[in-house]
Amino acid sequence: MKKLIRNGTIVTASETYKGDILIDNEKIVALGKDFKEEDVAEVIDASGCFIFPGGVDPHTHLDMPFGGTVTRDDFDSGTVAAAHGGTTTVIDFCLSEKGKSLNNAINTWHEKSQDKAVIDYSFHLMIGEITAEVLDELPSVIEEEGITSFKVFMAYKNVFQADDATLFHTLIKAKELGALVMVHAENGDVIDYLTKEALAKGQTEPIHHALTRPPAAEGEATGRACQLTSLADSQLYVVHVTCEQAVKQIDEARKSGADIWGETCPQYLVLDQEVMRQSNFEGAKYVWSPPLRDKEHQEVLWNALKIGALQTIGSDQCSFDFQGQKDLGREDFTKIPNGGPMIEDRMSILFSEGVAKGRLSLNQFVDITSTRAAKLFGIYPKKGTISVGADADLVIFDPEVKRTISADTHHLAVDYNAFEGMEVKGQPKTVLSRGKTIINDQIFVGSNGDGQFIKRAKYGEVLQEQTVQ
Ligand code: URP
Ligand code: ZN
Ligand code: ZN
Ligand code: ZN
Repeated sequence: MKKLIRNGTIVTASETYKGDILIDNEKIVALGKDFKEEDVAEVIDASGCFIFPGGVDPHTHLDMPFGGTVTRDDFDSGTVAAAHGGTTTVIDFCLSEKGKSLNNAINTWHEKSQDKAVIDYSFHLMIGEITAEVLDELPSVIEEEGITSFKVFMAYKNVFQADDATLFHTLIKAKELGALVMVHAENGDVIDYLTKEALAKGQTEPIHHALTRPPAAEGEATGRACQLTSLADSQLYVVHVTCEQAVKQIDEARKSGADIWGETCPQYLVLDQEVMRQSNFEGAKYVWSPPLRDKEHQEVLWNALKIGALQTIGSDQCSFDFQGQKDLGREDFTKIPNGGPMIEDRMSILFSEGVAKGRLSLNQFVDITSTRAAKLFGIYPKKGTISVGADADLVIFDPEVKRTISADTHHLAVDYNAFEGMEVKGQPKTVLSRGKTIINDQIFVGSNGDGQFIKRAKYGEVLQEQTVQ
């Protein structure tokens, strides 16, 4: 069945032009003008709109256990919300447990996602320790499962935190096998010390979550991860970069020739630490790690995106209800589950605050929200661009619509929105996932289970696919 999208302005990471898109079944089969409409079953008019490649969110935590509870949003509500926001692919973090097989973890994540996801998805795999069993399993994780990125936590002591030996060994194995290593870069030991000190002084409110995780602890861990990457002659992707100290380390390492990439998230671009001081425990809504920073870091992050010192934006979607989940830490900030709801507004915020305010070009917007992540994580050119042969994952985006972000209107299951009251310009109107309309004039019309797991190419390789039918 053929579909035609007419009269839109097509935007990729490198081009902006008026053109029509012909879709056959799941794929883009032609780009141009004056296509005959006779054998086309549906014509979608995109007048006045941009057409972006579907967003690729490289950082989500859906249905993830944390601190004795589980994220409120799973692969159902989480991917529906993502679709509303223009994201058509998510790469979620599959958590492994020390002493258990990696395959066990991967199977658990397949069970969480396969009947629920409404958009395509893949997994990154957490490495908590390197043992003989883990080393044995890694080649098949890459070759058979198509999972080509590993996540190492340098923080969350006694929970997820890995030691430097594990990080270094993972970097060496990743280089050998063709995977990209991702790090949560904060010094977990220093944070553990500062946290114990704060609690001993009776400092239990949400703001102390931020004060015990200073920017220097992120800068130090980021620098260490960069150094270890150079030493291993490997490749690194630093997730959720929040501050000047960390940006500086990544920038310096890149300038010295290291193969290192950095991601930031919408929350760090538009919110600052002061919100964590709100009374009645409201500050708990903004407890995630690394924490929000002082306002001056925001322009550093925007500038880093603009000049290419940071290259992607992930949501770090990891939602917990204010009532009943964040509540667990009323008496002690260390018991507040870490994370926030960001998957739906990731692209809107970057467009409104970035493009509409003149900080980023349209092409940079596409690169940062879609193309770059698709390339780094081995799903390009199937995902991340508008070209013949690519999946018809497309966002028809009206740049003039204004909307106020609110938990009353969002599509997440969680009971609050961290960007409540923020006005944004521009909104996805219609979204296609592999040729099928899943958002039609802002109404969800997709189906659970339609999302497919994507086996990814190795780091640095393009995804080879069957040719267009
Ligand atoms: O607070 C956060 N970010 N929760 C999710 C886990 C992580 O560190 O990315
Ligand atoms: Zn993290
Ligand atoms: Zn206090
Ligand atoms: Zn995360």
